[in-house]
Amino acid sequence: METVLSGIRSTGQLHLGNYFGALKNFVKMQHDACCYFFIADYHSLTTHPDPKLLHDNVKNALSEYLAAGLDPEVATIYIQSDLPQTAELSLLLSMHAYVGELSKTVSFKDKIRQQPNNINAGLLCYPVLMAADILIHRATRVPVGKDQEQHLEMTRNFAQRFNQFYGVDYFPLPQSYNFGEASIKVPGLDGSGKMGKSEGNGVFLVDTDEVIRKKVMKAKTDSGPTEPNQPMPEAIENLFTIMQIVSPADTYHYFLDKYNNCEIRYGDMKKQLAEDMIAVIAPIRERIDDIRSNDKYLHEVVSEGARKAAENANRTLKEVREIMGIKPF
Ligand code: TRP
Repeated sequence: METVLSGIRSTGQLHLGNYFGALKNFVKMQHDACCYFFIADYHSLTTHPDPKLLHDNVKNALSEYLAAGLDPEVATIYIQSDLPQTAELSLLLSMHAYVGELSKTVSFKDKIRQQPNNINAGLLCYPVLMAADILIHRATRVPVGKDQEQHLEMTRNFAQRFNQFYGVDYFPLPQSYNFGEASIKVPGLDGSGKMGKSEGNGVFLVDTDEVIRKKVMKAKTDSGPTEPNQPMPEAIENLFTIMQIVSPADTYHYFLDKYNNCEIRYGDMKKQLAEDMIAVIAPIRERIDDIRSNDKYLHEVVSEGARKAAENANRTLKEVREIMGIKPF
């Protein structure tokens, strides 16, 4: 069975795009592979978050993933900082990571522009820590978005360099895990592009019914088609795409026919779309609230997760130390 590792940003607040693009696939994947999911709170420290906020963010992210269906009985779910073995592996790997390659990483160069007054060494070593997350479990597959592909490639380079330098075949070279067609792209409500957190065009899993209705009713439309079967402008096409994802098929076809007959009333369509979105989101939101307020449950989940993750991590670290020549007397 493949070992799959997913790193989750602790900057939280999942939207419908995350849900249909990744989360639903994670929920399925946990039954098909040996899965590790962890919240990358060490990585978050590179931007110097307020300590209280960091903790809340980790808690929110954890609650959201659990509410969406990650199952601690099936997968190993933990917090990165509860597995400090990762930090030691990162230190060991850093001896074979060159400052030249690290400083050329796209994400590092972006960060230099974003936070010129805080170009800390943690940012420079971000890809080494990420490699340690993956290699500590000797994972073979990692689901990553486009923006993380370079980091995964660097992980393969570090792994291969380690194997070569010490003449071992120890670390597997992790490949990306691609959901292909199953990764559904949800457009935003602003007329163009993908749903995103920073784009301000998203509907979040924690949004109340009222907020969802307001956001959908404000979505961009136009004055409607003037002749039958006219091609759709992007904003309208996006609304239909979202409807196809969240609504029953007959609802989608009902409004599509209306559009093609020039009888569409966008107000009616949006009202329906909002209710169908609520039908998806409200049960998840209620689970998020329940889980978030259950500190005892959260504590159990992360302690059990850290315990399971440590079994692997301790073995890897012991073997890596030995390979590098750190041996007990
Ligand atoms: N850098 C990833 C992100 O920003 C999060 C992450 C940290 C990660 N460590 C990882 C992802 C290991 C996959 C594997 O999304």
